[in-house]
Amino acid sequence: MCGIIGYVGPMDAARVVMDGLRRLEYRGYDSSGIALGVDGRLYFAKRAGKLAKLAELLADSPLPVSHQGIGHTRWATHGGPTDTNAHPHLSSDEQVAVVHNGIIENFAELREQLETDGVVFASQTDTEVASQWLARELRACGDLVQAMRATCGRLKGAFTLVAIDAAHPDTIVAARRNSPLVVGVGEGENFVASDVAAFIEHTREAIELGQDQVVVITPSTVVITDFDGNVKKGRQYRVDWDAKSAEKTGYDWFMRKEIFEQPRAVADTLLGRFDAAGHLMLDEVNIGDDELRAIDKIVILAAGTAFYAGMVARYAIEHWTRVPCEVELASEFRYRDPIVGPRTLCVTISQSGETADTLMAIRHARAQGARVIAICNTVGATIPRESDAVLYTRAGPEIGVASTKGFTTQLAACYLLGLWLAQVRGTKFGDEVADMVDELNAMPALMQQVLDRAESIYRLAHDLAANKDFLFIGRHVGYPVALEGALKLKEIAYLHAEGFAAGELKHGPIAIISPATPVFVIVPPRGRDQLHDKVVSNIQEVRARGARVLVLAEAGDESVVPFASTLIQLPSVSTLLQPMLAILPLQMFACELATVLGHDVDQPRNLAKSVTVE
Ligand code: AGP
Repeated sequence: MCGIIGYVGPMDAARVVMDGLRRLEYRGYDSSGIALGVDGRLYFAKRAGKLAKLAELLADSPLPVSHQGIGHTRWATHGGPTDTNAHPHLSSDEQVAVVHNGIIENFAELREQLETDGVVFASQTDTEVASQWLARELRACGDLVQAMRATCGRLKGAFTLVAIDAAHPDTIVAARRNSPLVVGVGEGENFVASDVAAFIEHTREAIELGQDQVVVITPSTVVITDFDGNVKKGRQYRVDWDAKSAEKTGYDWFMRKEIFEQPRAVADTLLGRFDAAGHLMLDEVNIGDDELRAIDKIVILAAGTAFYAGMVARYAIEHWTRVPCEVELASEFRYRDPIVGPRTLCVTISQSGETADTLMAIRHARAQGARVIAICNTVGATIPRESDAVLYTRAGPEIGVASTKGFTTQLAACYLLGLWLAQVRGTKFGDEVADMVDELNAMPALMQQVLDRAESIYRLAHDLAANKDFLFIGRHVGYPVALEGALKLKEIAYLHAEGFAAGELKHGPIAIISPATPVFVIVPPRGRDQLHDKVVSNIQEVRARGARVLVLAEAGDESVVPFASTLIQLPSVSTLLQPMLAILPLQMFACELATVLGHDVDQPRNLAKSVTVE
């Protein structure tokens, strides 16, 4: 949700900020803007639409050269995506400019107060309330940092605020509550941003900011305090990927690049997490064995694609550990008064580590005494910081809004976690764990085999490009794969796509099948005969209604051949691991179909990569 960058240093701030916004655009892209301080004055430019519109504006009417700048790329919450509502928001006296990510829940009350005092608002946003309030505090105390603290003290909700003051051309002040903010530490220059992608081409040294903290950067200093002014020390770390990882490297879309990165990404997730004998070593998950043995319930919390990864994980974790495992949408969790306590282990899954729904669910679980393990891709993000332990997926930056390598690396991490719990609790023998570890180790090469057949999937996407409705069905772990396949198509192709549990179809949804409706069926491997045969029966049910049946089944499964309009063969693996392979053709299909339809695959309409509002 919204990307933010601030820069102070010797370079041309407008260029640094615009380059940073390009890397952050995946976070929100309905409007953007930039503000610079020069000779005691603030200059700004902002535009509705994608960042290219702002770049055109700046090319036509360049801003003066400056060494202090802030920028923003927006995903609208309060106020539509117009030029006026775009950030930065200047106070009426043009003394301060502010960019903001999050939602200020008490903005209406503060706005009313300011209007009563004669402030005239230019936009419909909650952000302008923050900039007007900040200017008012600044007039009262004369110091932007104090003014920022005072302003934060008045705001309710979630916010990252980054501000500049016309009077101090070498300083940026930023604050955060429930919304991401990271500092980039350079030599003779410093940065603040929503995530490290914004400044990765300039520095890989970063500092995490804690909850309710304010940071002041100048070209040579970084000072962190809490909202009461007490000095704090942020954790400094080195980002383990570089600017090249965040480039498209010859692919037309980040999403396509990320699809093809999956074998490498999964291999990285697995790397160093077991010894030569297949004994798992998750040393980073520093929760004591006794505590893990005492657990009587596991609750998986996540949103969107990560939730579907959690649905797969439940089958594996329950099967291997014999501990009851629930999986719940993070956005629903705390509203049902869930039964969790000190013997509950919560596993949260989040690519970004900033999803507000998931974060709030964690806080609720921890308040009830539960222990929380985060599975996350973003080092230093809020969710891992607020969890008891973290297992990083190490997928590298995921820029495409539709998650792909996020999903398969989350699956790999969930399998590791499940096997590790089984090892600690003694519900699987060492050789059984080692066999599964061997299978996991073989997955990257098998994933590559599926990806190597991309051309046939692309042809299918071209063939089916005129269809408006798609169904996806599966049972057991194939069911979440069906849901995820449908989500990919909805997100980027804007088509009606639904995923169903194959056995549920006959209880109603089968009525929507008309002749030639494409139905993707995820057929489980033949090992578990009941499961496999039931899905084959489901294929016949849809086939009998005239559907065009697109079957994903393991190579050599002859039983599906008579009923498949198209057969997509997958390498043979255990049932529990099949989702890592079965999802790949569905990702490639959605990516290609959206491309054929002329959509912006990386930045689909109405969406944002990281959803930092509830
Ligand atoms: C996936 O394609 C989506 N863009 C979305 O569902 C995403 O998975 C969800 O918002 C959760 O994000 P997270 O993994 O960063 O928490």
